[in-house]
Amino acid sequence: MPYDTKQYDIKDVNLNDKGNRRIEWADNSMPVLRQIRDRFRQEKPLAGVRISACLHVTTETANLARALTEGGAELCLCASNPLSTQDDVAASLVRDYSISVYAMKGEDHVTYYNHIKAALEHQPYITMDDGADLVTQVLSERKDLIPNIIGGTEETTTGVVRLRSMAKNGVLRFPIISVNDAETKHLFDNRYGTGQSTIDGIIRATNLLLAGTNFVVAGYGWCGRGVAMRARGMGANVIITEVNAIKALEAVMDGFRVMPIAEAAKIGRIFVTLTGNKAVIRKEHFQEMQDGTVVCNSGHFNVELDIPALESLSKARRSMRDFVEEYLLRDGRRIYLLGEGRLINLASAEGHPASVMDMSFANQALSVEYLARNKGKLSNQVHPVPVEIDHEIARLKLRSMNVAIDDLNEEQKAYLESWEEGT
Ligand code: ADE
Repeated sequence: MPYDTKQYDIKDVNLNDKGNRRIEWADNSMPVLRQIRDRFRQEKPLAGVRISACLHVTTETANLARALTEGGAELCLCASNPLSTQDDVAASLVRDYSISVYAMKGEDHVTYYNHIKAALEHQPYITMDDGADLVTQVLSERKDLIPNIIGGTEETTTGVVRLRSMAKNGVLRFPIISVNDAETKHLFDNRYGTGQSTIDGIIRATNLLLAGTNFVVAGYGWCGRGVAMRARGMGANVIITEVNAIKALEAVMDGFRVMPIAEAAKIGRIFVTLTGNKAVIRKEHFQEMQDGTVVCNSGHFNVELDIPALESLSKARRSMRDFVEEYLLRDGRRIYLLGEGRLINLASAEGHPASVMDMSFANQALSVEYLARNKGKLSNQVHPVPVEIDHEIARLKLRSMNVAIDDLNEEQKAYLESWEEGT
């Protein structure tokens, strides 16, 4: 289907009613973003700003889209993963909010990239990425768009890694705000969001009992910590694998067993990768796994699992239930791959709960406003979210939870700025 002749490409526009009510439900848990939306409606800080966004098309993203368009932005949205789109939400965004959306759950590789291309036909001034696919496309195939681009934002660790590599190699041609690095983003979204939604995805896909199972978490970054913490809370025997000595040490002191993946492969019952790297679980590991092992990924890309290697070891495949694919190995063992190795929290569940996305997307909205206000002033590097924005989001979130905190008094402020006073 040609991608430049339509205003949208979604599964079924008639799904909008269900999507609209679910968007409203998520909005109930997004008080910070709602406040920003209300201000944006009054002030229109994004008037005439064309934004192309490549995000997971979920109820939470829909509320970000509402905030941006209330601020005056002209938004075009495409999916940041072939399996994460909520088709009813896409329908509501098109029909109820008149936003161009190019996203369909289960879209193939070609359609995925056609949708990214379609979103860039919008000729953005600002790009908004979750995984850096838009920026990569601009820098490789749509360099003509660069002169008009004020900057971009990036939502996730994997995208920030790619963008920093672009900046280091001198190929990044506009400034990026790393939303992921805001404390009100990764401390909550990556940890508590991924923690809950990954367990949710595994359970919705399999309905397995976690209590008493050997549950292997590959990667002890913020996401891995969140999943490990929640799996332990469900009674699993959690094993961590790491390549970073400090993170491994932290996992040990957090009370987890730590071992190489080659050892874990022999005893794990459920495996989740959250490393941001590739081929973390590969042929030699699949060869060691027990019959009935469940393998999934909750990192951004499905390359964390070497799926071609699993295929090469298998003599047959069948779908056991939605998002559970059985691979029958030549020696008769069965390995179950969840959600095609795509991020399981969005493939078989609904992604992070709205309450954490509230802060992530407040950072997105305020970073876009910051980019628009600072047009031409930022270097072509990856920049942090300004610390004032980060703290303001935390204050607003606390206030929405009716949690009050203390203020420093003058004496304390002076003490913290001095060095003379000792024992
Ligand atoms: N990433 C993880 N969870 C998400 C969600 N609910 N919406 C958008 N992006 C996400």
